[in-house]
Amino acid sequence: MKLIELPTHSDARGDLTVIESCLPFMIRRVFFITKPVGVRGGHYHIKTVQALICLQGSILIELRDDLVRLDDKRQCMILQPSDWHSMYEFSEDCILLVLASEHYSENDYVRD
Ligand code: TYD
Repeated sequence: MKLIELPTHSDARGDLTVIESCLPFMIRRVFFITKPVGVRGGHYHIKTVQALICLQGSILIELRDDLVRLDDKRQCMILQPSDWHSMYEFSEDCILLVLASEHYSENDYVRD
């Protein structure tokens, strides 16, 4: 797991945050999670690298040896395939954007 800070260009018109050369993979899939409740995740992957950005609200990410709250849209969490992760304590307004290196395949998941 790695946390990176996304460059943000702020001026009187607002904030523009860029996700470009900081990602260690080519994006093949994008999904976002809204209205989350309870616990999500609870798995790691065989091949997929992911980048998580909490666009709104906050979320707690549990890793094997770490607990990280994402609550800033300039923060990007890079999860390597072997990084088991579980997500909970979502704020009601939470929007979690996920960029993934692979197309979706159930065969790429290793669940508890
Ligand atoms: P799931 O993997 O259970 O979500 P989480 O890891 O957040 O707990 O996915 C929920 C459903 O969405 C499940 O039926 C599979 C489907 N899904 C896709 O079709 N494509 C995707 O890219 C993802 C991530 C999930």
